[in-house]
Amino acid sequence: MRHIFTVFAALALAGFAGSRIPQAKPQEAPPADAKVPSEYSSKSNPVKPTPAGLEEARRIYGYDCEMCHGKDGRGKGDLAGDMKLDMHDWRNPAALEKYSDGELFYIITKGKGKMVPEGDRVKEEVRWQLVNYVRSLAKKGGAEATKPKEEAPKPAEDAAKPPAALR
Ligand code: HEC
Repeated sequence: MRHIFTVFAALALAGFAGSRIPQAKPQEAPPADAKVPSEYSSKSNPVKPTPAGLEEARRIYGYDCEMCHGKDGRGKGDLAGDMKLDMHDWRNPAALEKYSDGELFYIITKGKGKMVPEGDRVKEEVRWQLVNYVRSLAKKGGAEATKPKEEAPKPAEDAAKPPAALR
């Protein structure tokens, strides 16, 4: 299921070892300039962005995308640095505006250039929701945002309470 992490781990290890690793040449990766077939580019997003759906997409994004695209979508994930990837800053609304939802869905599903495909690791519905999610990153930050507000994680208050016996 998450076998892709093994690949990342191997890449990361090779990077840490400081060795000169040859460029990975995945046999089945589409060429970087692969064109999105028109049946996809004209497809509209059948999935509405709902709070629950976006939350699910955010979770998947954290597992499968953040290491390259970065938490806030600016493209500064650890792996992007290690692999010296040329990433786009999605906080700038112009970065994704030129793509239709169908095109983004296609890229997420099939990969692009050095981007690994999500394939069917998550359901089609979740991939459409990922489209909604990456678009939402632009709305939050905007082009000028250098320090976008972190969404406050739920505080783990329970963990901080000392056991009643300690008095
Ligand atoms: C191995 C690093 C990597 C991972 C992991 C990754 N991407 Fe990408 N992604 C890229 C790169 C590099 C590009 C630019 C490809 C190009 O234009 O050649 C890209 C492009 C995109 C694009 C097209 C818009 C753009 O900025 O060029 C979308 C949308 C996208 N990724 C979404 C995702 C989502 C969603 C995930 C997680 C399911 C994900 N990516 C995982 C590296 C990655």
